[in-house]
Amino acid sequence: MRLAAVGHEVVLGSRSAERAEEVRAGLLELWPGRELAIGAADNAGAAAADVVVVATPWDGAAPTVAALAEALDGKVVISMANALTRVGKEFQPLIPPRGSVAADVQAAVPRALVAAAFHHVPAKELGALDHPVECDVLVCSDHPEATEVTSALIADIPGMRALDAGRLTAAGAIESLTAVLIGMNVRYRTRLSVRLTGLPGE
Ligand SMILES: NC(=O)c1ccc[n+]([C@@H]2O[C@H](COP(=O)([O-])OP(=O)(O)OC[C@H]3O[C@@H](n4cnc5c(N)ncnc54)[C@H](OP(=O)(O)O)[C@@H]3O)[C@@H](O)[C@H]2O)c1
Repeated sequence: MRLAAVGHEVVLGSRSAERAEEVRAGLLELWPGRELAIGAADNAGAAAADVVVVATPWDGAAPTVAALAEALDGKVVISMANALTRVGKEFQPLIPPRGSVAADVQAAVPRALVAAAFHHVPAKELGALDHPVECDVLVCSDHPEATEVTSALIADIPGMRALDAGRLTAAGAIESLTAVLIGMNVRYRTRLSVRLTGLPGE
């Protein structure tokens, strides 16, 4: 929604093209006055885009990209999945085999340029086009081009700032922090995001 709102052409993927179309129609209905270039397709159709965002539950991310490896060859693939589980009232982080979901995604498509980003931005805020999302987005990758392309997309979104968090080994800590933030959202009854201070030039 945010990327379409700033003029990017977006294709919403799904395991079922019909389901993608239903979701697309539902989203467009929420913002009738806006020109949002959002298409709908199956996951293969979405993987044909220049930049691909993987936003499935954590254990579906690596298998989803693995099935589309050829289409993702050489492309920037953004992983935003968090491996979490609910224990009683608490959300706890899980550690996937390679230390993060993003590392598992990179291993599944070794010729793609995987970046990890957007983990801490609440979905409802991403969809609430009537106000900016005031937050920092930590971006990490083993490919400078992926960090650059992902950061440029983030910078297009009003209120969002991309911060280079280093190599993909940082993804585990970034993903795990989400469990803490979700717990705080419950405690404070809000949708909080991350903002860091102390950067040069502030
Ligand atoms: N929700 C948030 O606020 C938020 C914020 C930042 C990051 N994230 C991360 O983004 C990811 C998606 O979050 P969400 O809340 O959108 O989750 P979700 O609604 O549970 O899943 C998103 C979509 O993934 C597809 N999917 C479900 N299981 C799948 C599987 N096993 N394999 C492949 N695709 C599957 C489904 O679409 P189809 O059935 O149509 O294929 C589903 O609608 C999560 O990893 C989450 O941690 C979420």
